[in-house]
Amino acid sequence: RRKSCHPHPPLCCASSPEGSVSKAPGPLRSSLRATSVSKSDVIPAGDITSTPIPEITDVFPELHTHEHIHQFSLDHPEEFWGQLARSRLEWQREFKTVTAHEPEKAIFRWFPDGQLNVSVNCVDRHARHHPDRVALLWEKDEPGQQEPITYRQLKDEMCRLANVLRASGVGKGDRVALYLPVSPLAVASMLACARIGAVHSVVFAGFSAEALASRIQDAGAETVITTDQAVRGGKVIQLKQVVDAAVAKCPSVRQVFVGTRTESQVKMGPKDIALDKALSCEGTECEPAVQDAEDLLFLLYTSGSTGSPKGVAHTSAGYLLYAATTHKHVFDYRDGDVFGCVADVGWITGHSYVVYGPLANGATTVLFESTPTYPNPGRYWETVARLGITHFYCAPTALRLLLRYEDDWVKRYDRSTLRVLGSVGEPLNHEAWHWFNDLVGEKRCTLVDTWWQTETGGIMISPRPSAPGAPVLPALPMRPMFGVKPVLCEPNGGVVEGMGVDGALCVGSVWPGIARTIYGDHKRYVDTYFSPYKGYYFSGDGAHRDQDGYYHITGRMDDVINVTGHRLGTAEVEDAMMEHPDVAEVAVVGFPHEVKGEGVFAFMILKDHTHESTEEIKNDLRKLVRSKIAGYAVPETFLICPGLPKTRSGKIMRRILRKVAANKPGELGDISTLADPTIVQSIIDAYNENR
Ligand code: WTA
Repeated sequence: RRKSCHPHPPLCCASSPEGSVSKAPGPLRSSLRATSVSKSDVIPAGDITSTPIPEITDVFPELHTHEHIHQFSLDHPEEFWGQLARSRLEWQREFKTVTAHEPEKAIFRWFPDGQLNVSVNCVDRHARHHPDRVALLWEKDEPGQQEPITYRQLKDEMCRLANVLRASGVGKGDRVALYLPVSPLAVASMLACARIGAVHSVVFAGFSAEALASRIQDAGAETVITTDQAVRGGKVIQLKQVVDAAVAKCPSVRQVFVGTRTESQVKMGPKDIALDKALSCEGTECEPAVQDAEDLLFLLYTSGSTGSPKGVAHTSAGYLLYAATTHKHVFDYRDGDVFGCVADVGWITGHSYVVYGPLANGATTVLFESTPTYPNPGRYWETVARLGITHFYCAPTALRLLLRYEDDWVKRYDRSTLRVLGSVGEPLNHEAWHWFNDLVGEKRCTLVDTWWQTETGGIMISPRPSAPGAPVLPALPMRPMFGVKPVLCEPNGGVVEGMGVDGALCVGSVWPGIARTIYGDHKRYVDTYFSPYKGYYFSGDGAHRDQDGYYHITGRMDDVINVTGHRLGTAEVEDAMMEHPDVAEVAVVGFPHEVKGEGVFAFMILKDHTHESTEEIKNDLRKLVRSKIAGYAVPETFLICPGLPKTRSGKIMRRILRKVAANKPGELGDISTLADPTIVQSIIDAYNENR
């Protein structure tokens, strides 16, 4: 149990029981108070005195081109990754063995006899060499309120928090759920878990109470960290209330630490602990846990084509090495850069390229709390100018939204510090690529379209700006990263050879960042990723290899859709909708959407005698999906149909529904295998009437 340094433990609210506001010392404390900071007050990168991370060509001087290095990494993975792991990570006990895989069981081990602590690698070693360098540049929701946090400060806060967790009985291997705004507290919480060997499970703070509860339960988390509220796009979000509703369904939870973001007075229950107060009792030294390379670092829940979201499990050394290596080489990161990845820490992009990759490399990393259009569509570029950002990494959906506004929203801000632009999460179409490259980057920056997944831990396919003489082409991720061997497969499992070909995108090599399992369900891991194409990791995406051998992503081949860059299983939406008493059957598909990438389209059959009007039912369904999953999962369209296209064995043919939802009734293909082919015309008729 927690020790308490207070005679009266906090009982009623996030501030002290007396009502006076107790604040944690240092940067975790924040408020919405405007602190206008002029450009000269900002320390873009602080003290830059350490030795820069060597280029790959310095590590392997005999290798000159990207192709040479890439081939070497595939031919000699142990030498390649072993050398990088030795030179770029700080070990508690150096490894002797680089890999010990058991591919037939889908068990992968990197550096299995080595020991390191991820938090030491991300913080202590930099705090030792350049304590005053800015680690985090927190760009809060309101422009002009940025807060720099140095490596020394980050170390102090992380250690305090780790001490709080340890004193509260959180130990090695325990899962801790984090439901937090993009903030230094979120980063310190992730690192504090790593410090004591606990396993964090960050849940995106836009997910509903029910979605949070199911993730807490699946992970068996006993501890939750949250804040009173969050602020995004000028709106206040009641985080603590969501946590309360979730925790009410989770008997496993024994304690909830409540930090402050807005200093609002929130109701505190018996399991709640005011974090600021707990922090003020702890010191800034915390002995790091000795961690095996393959100890779990974190779980991150993501959608699959069937069933509930799965807890993708990443371990310590291999993940960190892969995140750091890709951060350095995909983005051509150099000492002194200000790395701006505007993803939320609740997604894998936030884990690998806001937190672990940049911090492992001792970078200054931006934490962006706001939205692309708050308070206006110039927000991104105003932030770039104010913080002196050198790298800007975002999602295509944001670009597609912004390119609809006047160019002046971009041009009016100084973007001369930008050197590399990046995009992730969905295909980057030509229009968005050119807008980003030509207007934002003034054709002077390198733009990298990066393809990867929660399961891959880091970027898998991407142009490499630091590759000598490697051209970058528009709107395709192009080249596999070190250690990655893309393989295209046919439906029957055969490999598609040659150029100018399409296939299911698989990986025929083992890279250090690969997720090791699905938490608590290794069989599902094997079935999902390794059974569809024997001997390969299957990504779920399709790809095209062009005449030059470069890769283009053609989109998901399963029932996962991509809405505003968020992965969503259509089955999850269907399950939520089926809870409505008037709904008899439902099938959800994605359809092309100009801004969102894909929109959600729901076909449904209502029961014969409904309790409510159609409009009432649709409204209920919107609420239901929002409360079961999140706002982005709510279908754009609910189409009531007389039936669904089913095969004789009763399987819904979604391919047909996708064509109807995309308004391409002329491209339905063969429908003769349906139990009742006439149903298709009645669905098309319903679609046309609904337009
Ligand atoms: C899609 C995000 C096209 C893809 C890091 C993948 C992309 C899924 C790209 C993973 C890209 C990601 N071009 N599609 N550059 N990057 N995707 O797990 O369908 O949230 O399987 O990871 O996003 O989404 P996840």
